[in-house]
Amino acid sequence: MTTAQGVPMADDQNWLKAGARGPSLLEDHIAREKIFHFDHERIPERVVHARGYGVHGHFELTRAIPEYSSAAIFNEEGVKTPTFTRFSTVAGNKGSPDLARDVRGFATKFYTKEGNWDLVGNNIPVFFIQDAIKFPDLIHAAKPAPDRGFPQAQTAHDNFWDFVSLTPESMNMIMWIMSDRTIPRSFRFMEGFGVHTFRLVNEKGEAHFVKFHWKPKLGVQSVVWNEALKINGADPDFHRRDMWDAIEMGDYPQWDLGIQVFDEKFADEFEFDVLDATKIVPEEQVPVEIIGTLTLDANVDNFFAETEQVAFCTQNIVPGIDFTEDPLLQGRNFSYLDTQLKRLGSPNFTHIPINAPKCPVRHFQQDGHMAMSNPKGRANYEPNSWDGPMDDNREPRGPRACPMRGFTSYEAPVESPKIRVRSETFADHYSQARQFYISQTPVEQTHMANALTFELSKVERMDIRERMIGHLRHIDDDLAKEVADGIGLEKLPEKVPVARKPITDLPESPALSILKNSPKSFKGRKLGIYIA
Ligand code: HEM
Repeated sequence: MTTAQGVPMADDQNWLKAGARGPSLLEDHIAREKIFHFDHERIPERVVHARGYGVHGHFELTRAIPEYSSAAIFNEEGVKTPTFTRFSTVAGNKGSPDLARDVRGFATKFYTKEGNWDLVGNNIPVFFIQDAIKFPDLIHAAKPAPDRGFPQAQTAHDNFWDFVSLTPESMNMIMWIMSDRTIPRSFRFMEGFGVHTFRLVNEKGEAHFVKFHWKPKLGVQSVVWNEALKINGADPDFHRRDMWDAIEMGDYPQWDLGIQVFDEKFADEFEFDVLDATKIVPEEQVPVEIIGTLTLDANVDNFFAETEQVAFCTQNIVPGIDFTEDPLLQGRNFSYLDTQLKRLGSPNFTHIPINAPKCPVRHFQQDGHMAMSNPKGRANYEPNSWDGPMDDNREPRGPRACPMRGFTSYEAPVESPKIRVRSETFADHYSQARQFYISQTPVEQTHMANALTFELSKVERMDIRERMIGHLRHIDDDLAKEVADGIGLEKLPEKVPVARKPITDLPESPALSILKNSPKSFKGRKLGIYIA
């Protein structure tokens, strides 16, 4: 053993003392160095998704899509791009149990040769809120109450049910989280979704909308609630142990990467807004096309260095991929970078090996805590007459120009007044919630009714329980009655008022083929759809 300074250590068992039974001496620089470092081991846990598990792997493109995207990762069939994937729960702290009823994060960093692309998704294709300004409220309500510090898991929670019952846009997500999807059998049996609509941009600068999907080769499996409770008690590390063991045994889990691609004109035909993250794009209307495979084949060498220090960020995109104006995505693009400065303590967290790109990096960002790759040579500004790197747009292109295409933002037209408002096209909160519920098998529907009954029966405030039933009545009256009965309400509460009149004579909505294995289709049912 050595000290942190590399000095060989003679005795790591005893602090330097004045005599065998005398006081410990402050002079002991070796003991002080050791204790000093120990005292500073902790960093803040992630403000959300604190409990997670990371694994290395690679992505192999099986179908090039130059017609949609110029990104190298989408054009070179057979090339293996290294990846790091972190699975997580959302609401629990770092030490919370794996089988909590919760959304699972599914975040992948692709170390492409044009820079890092992060696909920071979940195992549910929709989200609770439409606008990022509500994210702190959602998370405050889902985490332990500020006075009592419980409950820790996202169950049986007055604050959570208060917030969502006052936030009708969360109803689609509520149906998904009350389904079996939030108690997965293991990470290996989960789907993943980019959730937002992104843009793919081809060499000619033409853009298409895209939704990203991960399809597990093992299929989707869940446990039931009683199993989840037992597993949490017997082995709170069940999911991370499952992943570690599978990889150690060489049983590498795989996911296909699928894309739903459509253009702006097609998007205008939907009865919902593709910029609204509380909605899916039905797979009947836009089939998922498989373009590659993710294989997870190596555990980390060190949990802290890799899983804890990895910093995913939705704004990490590469040429050929771009954002949309989804107001949730736009807020996320600010939030991750900001929180990671706090969490990792320095703007130089891109120098940490797990975050560092695996392609050349040339810029003039310098200094700050823990700077490990400052610019070399005379120049640290641009333009310069020395020999520093230059951007890609300069003509004539000399040897200093970036050898690859520079990132250019898609030229989406923007001309609007500056207003703080929610788009009218985001107003329908119940149709897809209803579609999801009625597309479930009877057994799955029973699980959902049981989950809602269990959760709401633990809510102390009666008005919150009643308000939730008032929402469920817009989704499925039988479900609302069953839950109301289950939680002992004598009278069925009124439907909560909605701003818009229901329109019931719309043509049939297409089935959600995300659920197409489900034997029960909602074809032929009339849907109450609220539109602007
Ligand atoms: C962390 C997904 C919405 C802020 C994460 C992680 C995932 C994720 C997977 C964990 C990353 C990791 O493993 O390190 C999502 C999805 C969202 C969503 C799919 C909605 C579609 C938001 C919003 C905000 C936000 C709206 C804020 C405006 C954060 C923050 C972290 C985080 C601050 C912690 C990051 C860190 O400390 O490294 N999110 N999130 N998320 N998310 Fe989100």
